[in-house]
Amino acid sequence: MELPLLPEQASTTAASVDHLYWYLSAVTVVMTALIFAAVFIFAIKYRRRSDDEIPAPIHGSIKLEIAWSIIPFLVMLTFFWWGADIYFANASPPPNAMDVYAVGKQWMWKIQYPTGQREINELHVPVGRPVKVTLASEDVIHSFFVPAFRVKQDDVPGRYNSLWFTATKPGRYHLFCAEYCGTEHSGMVGWVTVMTEPDYENWLSTGGIGGTMAQQGETLFGQYGCASCHLLDQAGGRCPNLRGVYGSRIQLANGSTVLADDAYIRESILNPNAKIVAGFKQDVMPSFQGQISEEALLQLIVYIKSLAPVTSPHFPSAPPGPSTAPSPRLPR
Ligand code: CUA
Repeated sequence: MELPLLPEQASTTAASVDHLYWYLSAVTVVMTALIFAAVFIFAIKYRRRSDDEIPAPIHGSIKLEIAWSIIPFLVMLTFFWWGADIYFANASPPPNAMDVYAVGKQWMWKIQYPTGQREINELHVPVGRPVKVTLASEDVIHSFFVPAFRVKQDDVPGRYNSLWFTATKPGRYHLFCAEYCGTEHSGMVGWVTVMTEPDYENWLSTGGIGGTMAQQGETLFGQYGCASCHLLDQAGGRCPNLRGVYGSRIQLANGSTVLADDAYIRESILNPNAKIVAGFKQDVMPSFQGQISEEALLQLIVYIKSLAPVTSPHFPSAPPGPSTAPSPRLPR
C-alpha cells in the first residue's frame, strides 16, 4: 500500500512496519467509532422523557463486564504480538550483514566503512544486501533515522547501538537525527544513497585514505603501545593476547563470563579494570578514557576483530572459558 501520507518504502522492513501502522490505525478508528456510537445511541435511547420519570433500576451484568474487558484486551494484545515480532526481526541483523559504522556528533553523522572510506552525512549502500550500522556518539544522544527504511535507533554516548536494513530500491533517501541534540539538531541531516551492485563496487574501488579500518586500527594499536603487550606472543603474561578473542566467551577473574563483542572491547580500552580476565591483575593497563575518539575506538575494534587466532603452547589465543567458539551475534 503506498499512500502519499507515508514516505516511500525502500527497505525489506518498510512494508511490515506500514502494515502494522495501518492495522493500529484501523483498530483505533473502529474502537473510537464503537465507543462514540454507544455514547450517542444510549444518550438518545435512554434520555429522560418527562420530569417525573423514574428509571428502572439496573444491577449490572457480570457476563457483559467480562466480555467488554476480555475482548478489547485480546485485540490490544495483537498490537503487542505483531509489534514484538517486527521488533525482534529488526533487533537481530542477519549474520551476513555488511558492517558500517556511524558516529553521531553535534551536528553531523560521521560514517566509516570497513574498507576505509569515510564520509560525513552520506551513507552509500548496495541494494539488496543487509547492512548493519553500529552507532556511537561523541557527545549527546542522537537518533539515526531513515524514514524510507522505517528504521530508527537511538545513538547513545558510552555504548554501541545498532540497526540493520536491506534496501530494496536504488535512490537517495533522507537520513535524519531524530533526537533533539542541541541548537542545530534540525540541521543534522544526511543522505543514504542506495546503489546497484556494480555502481557500489565502483564506488568502493575509490578506496579509503589510510587503508582499511582494520589497517587504521592496527596503526593506532601500535601508536598507543597496545601491541607490545597484547599481541607479541612473548609478552610474558602481563595481559591477554588478543588474537582470536573477538566473538569468544571470556572467563573473568570474578568467575563470570562475558562475550567479547564491540561493547566489551570498548569498555576494556576505556576502563580496563571493569572486567579483568581470569589469571590477570588489576591496574596493569592504563585507561584510555578521553584519549581516543569514538571513530578511532571503532577502528581498534575492527582491527581486533580481524586478528585471527594463533595457537601457541605458551600463550593460548583466548583465555580459558566454557567455549572459545565464536558466538552468534546477539541482538542488542
Ligand atoms: Cu543529533 Cu539531533
